[in-house]
Amino acid sequence: MTIVARGLSVHRSGRSILYPTDIIIEPGERVGLVGASGSGKSTLGHALVDTLRARGQSVALVPQSPDDALDPLRSMQFHWREAERALGLDPDVVRRDALFEALRIEAGDMRKRPWAWSRGMQQRFVIALALLGAPDLLVMDEPTSALDPVVAAGTMNLLDAYLKERQTALLLITHDLGLAAARVSRLIVMDACHVVENAPTETVLATPQTSAAKALCAHRNWLELPC
Ligand SMILES: Nc1ncnc2c1ncn2[C@@H]1O[C@H](COP(=O)(O)OP(=O)(O)O)[C@@H](O)[C@H]1O
Ligand SMILES: [Mg+2]
Repeated sequence: MTIVARGLSVHRSGRSILYPTDIIIEPGERVGLVGASGSGKSTLGHALVDTLRARGQSVALVPQSPDDALDPLRSMQFHWREAERALGLDPDVVRRDALFEALRIEAGDMRKRPWAWSRGMQQRFVIALALLGAPDLLVMDEPTSALDPVVAAGTMNLLDAYLKERQTALLLITHDLGLAAARVSRLIVMDACHVVENAPTETVLATPQTSAAKALCAHRNWLELPC
């Protein structure tokens, strides 16, 4: 189903932190939401998730750090079961193992609490939790910034391969144009709580129109990074 949300806006403490914005994402489309820190990316991402959830559409959010998604006092098994319960799913080890295999979650003891797992495996577990309900849209807010670049690239490659066969659309929020450019077909660029560009990735990279997009593209070393 095409994701359509019109006129998203957010006010906090008497000021606008998101000016009215329309978001349209086709099934299976991969879109990058990029911009400098403080430009309003997370605000837009969360406003979109809240709006879609209020309508009953299936959307999952992967936060920046696994710490934001996992309770340090609960076992990994508890988190998995809670997510199944929230989605109204019966426990299904086959479904779980398929997701674990796709995201290379190997030899993790489900009886342990999050801190007994590596950060990379915790974040892949959080991504698996997000995919459990086969959402129409996966929103990832700086999903790999807590990981080292090689682990981050590996995680994104696994996710790319998993999503390739599916209709789940992806909104990848990142300040890292290098991460987004390699993985999305369209870029939405934000500056000062506005969307300032919305175009195919190659178009933004080749002919950035605004100072915000030009500044992101100017950091040419991103071409050499592994992710
Ligand atoms: N709860 C809030 N109250 C007031 N201002 C906020 C709040 N959350 C975010 N902001 C402001 O909104 C702007 C956009 O923030 P954010 O969406 O987090 O940016 P980004 O994710 O691009 O770094 C920033 O100027 C930030 O200070
Ligand atoms: Mg943010």
